Amino acid sequence: MSALERSDESPQVDALAAPVGPAEKEAPSPFVLDVHDFSVDYGVGTQMVTAVRDVNFSLQRSKVLGVAGESGSGKSTLVYAITRLLRAPGVIRSGSAILRVALPDGHGVEEFDLVQADERTLRRVRWSHVSVVLQSALNALNPVLRIRREFDEVLKTHRASMTKTQRRERSVELLRMVGLSEDRLDRFPHELSGGQRQRVMIALALALDPDLVIMDEPTTALDVVTQREIINELNDLRSRFGFAMIFITHDLSLLVELADDIVVMYAGAIVERASALELYDAPRHPYTLGLLNSFPPLHGARQELTGIPGSPPDLAQLPAGCSFSTRCPFVMERCRRESPTLISLDDDHRQVACWLHEPGASATVPVELSQRRRAATSDSDLATAESK
Ligand SMILES: Nc1ncnc2c1ncn2[C@@H]1O[C@H](COP(=O)(O)OP(=O)(O)O)[C@@H](O)[C@H]1O
Ligand code: SF4
Ligand SMILES: [Mg+2]
Repeated sequence: MSALERSDESPQVDALAAPVGPAEKEAPSPFVLDVHDFSVDYGVGTQMVTAVRDVNFSLQRSKVLGVAGESGSGKSTLVYAITRLLRAPGVIRSGSAILRVALPDGHGVEEFDLVQADERTLRRVRWSHVSVVLQSALNALNPVLRIRREFDEVLKTHRASMTKTQRRERSVELLRMVGLSEDRLDRFPHELSGGQRQRVMIALALALDPDLVIMDEPTTALDVVTQREIINELNDLRSRFGFAMIFITHDLSLLVELADDIVVMYAGAIVERASALELYDAPRHPYTLGLLNSFPPLHGARQELTGIPGSPPDLAQLPAGCSFSTRCPFVMERCRRESPTLISLDDDHRQVACWLHEPGASATVPVELSQRRRAATSDSDLATAESK
């Protein structure tokens, strides 16, 4: 089953108040996170812009959800708001974010609506159940503290019963998990490379065995080789430890290497959602196609990069109708008047918001958006993607 799919056993999000405490005895929901009708604004009155608009998604345990979109599409705002790290003038206008965390020793699952949770609950949940590697992570380490102090602080705060020796042992274990040797513990951040600092941040995020790890552009500032190494390590860590992950990047080609499912955001809204393979193989939204043509694949044959014409819209002055209409090579008259909503394609979890795909529409779907991307992909590319 895809990470985005709901199963019949999954409870209706609407029915949940927050915090909702230990879940019922029935089969636990396979979803670690359910985000429902989620909208976020910045500012008030005439200055207000909506940076996240009616977003819905679910994430299964141990799965990776990729969030893609150009800079300014609302990716960071979405995850900061879900985890309640959003700062003023950002405000959650509506929606819920139900987190389900495993209780110790297999004693079921506990549920919280993060949107409604008080500070005490949030302190309990952060690090232990949800950890976030922020977009500015490369500069997030305190420059005057040795790396071991960073680990010590997290472990002391959340695992008060651990002795100093146990904390040291756990820190060494965590560093090894991300491919760093023990001696890095005694270094200052400036003595580490960008890739090593990022690995330290990932190790810190995993320190308390969280159910969900959120990574906001963790490899964007790194060279391609280091990027690829870190992506491979994350894949490995996820299969060993079973945490779910939300991985944000503007580089859709990179996401295809890592994610089970992908949502593509444009101007604050999800415009396409699909499994990573489906999205790579057969994008349906013109914006997704543009993103795929903007970055070279990490594996496989070279392809011509065409990018997307124009720039992301000003949220304060969105075009009428489809927000992508000013940049879309397939724009139609209707697109400039009416805004498309997400509709299901093929099966329940594949969705797109584009008039081209409306059932019964008279428009002919362009070949690039109706077939496998044979032209742009070699057999070795497909083999790589399919072997994931
Ligand atoms: N502090 C802020 N004040 C006002 N508007 C903001 C602020 N931060 C972000 N925004 C608005 O929200 C939009 C989405 O930003 P962001 O979530 O950072 O996008 P992304 O992470 O996709 O690059 C931006 O284009 C901007 O218009
Ligand atoms: S609705 Fe129209 S403008 Fe928007 S993406 Fe589809 S074809 Fe392009
Ligand atoms: Mg961002």
